[in-house]
Amino acid sequence: MEKTEKTAFFNVQGLCKSYTTSSTSIAVLKDVSLSLSRGEFLSIVGESGSGKSTLLQILGTLDDADQGSIHLNDVEILGLGASARAVLRNKQLGFIYQAHHLIPELTAIENIMLPLMIRGDEKKSIRNRALSLLERMKLTDRADHVPAHLSGGEAQRVAVARALATKPRLLLADEPTGNLDEATARSVFQALRELCQEEQAAVIMVTHSSALAQATDRTVRLHHGSLQPQD
Ligand SMILES: Nc1ncnc2c1ncn2[C@@H]1O[C@H](COP(=O)(O)OP(=O)(O)O)[C@@H](O)[C@H]1O
Ligand SMILES: [Mg+2]
Repeated sequence: MEKTEKTAFFNVQGLCKSYTTSSTSIAVLKDVSLSLSRGEFLSIVGESGSGKSTLLQILGTLDDADQGSIHLNDVEILGLGASARAVLRNKQLGFIYQAHHLIPELTAIENIMLPLMIRGDEKKSIRNRALSLLERMKLTDRADHVPAHLSGGEAQRVAVARALATKPRLLLADEPTGNLDEATARSVFQALRELCQEEQAAVIMVTHSSALAQATDRTVRLHHGSLQPQD
C-alpha cells in the first residue's frame, strides 16, 4: 500500500455531477478524485462557475453526486441516509461560507454554543468550550455582541469558532474570506489556520486569493470538471 493511502483519512474517487434543466444538461464535475491526510490544509482554486461550491456541497453531504464515492475514515458517506448524514455533519464536519451565516438574534458566544447544544453536551462544558474558542479568536470582549454589532472580520472569526466547536475532523470552507478586504482576509485566514492546526482539523478551502492558496499545504485547481495539481 502506498504511503498516501495509509495516511489518508478522506478519499474521494470519480465524482461526477451534472445539472439538468428542461432544455440542457451541464456536466459540472466529470471525474473528481482527491485524498486528504489528517490535519492537511488543502486549497481549491478555479474560475467562477467551475463547480467549486458544488464540489464542497457534495463533500459535505449537502448535495448528491451522480457517480463516485467518498470515504471518511473508511466509511462511504454518499450512500448514507438523511439522518446518518446529519449526525455525520454534526460530529465530523464543519462548514464556513463567504457570508458568516450566524444567527442574528444570538450573541457571539450563543452562536458558538449552538452546535454543542444540538449535540446535547453538558451545559457547563459547552460554555467553557465556547469561552476558550472566543479567547483563541481574540474575541473575549465581543462575547455578548450580536452579529450586527461585529465587524466583518470579527463575525467571520465567530463563524470559524462555531464551525470548530464540535471538534470536526474536516472543515469545508467556501471562500471564507471572500467578503473581506485583503488585510482582514489574511488575519481571518491566519486565525483559521492556527485554530485548525491546534484542533488537528483538516481543511478544504476554496479561495480566489492566490496569496492565501500559497499559504496552505497544497493547492489544486478545478478545471474542466476535474482537479489538477497547481504549482
Ligand atoms: N442548483 C443548480 N441547478 C443548475 N445549475 C447549477 C446549480 N448550481 C450550480 N449550477 C451551475 O453549475 C456550475 C458550477 O457552479 P458552482 O459550483 O456554484 O461554481 P463555483 O463555486 O466554482 O463558482 C455553474 O455553471 C452553475 O450555473
Ligand atoms: Mg462558489
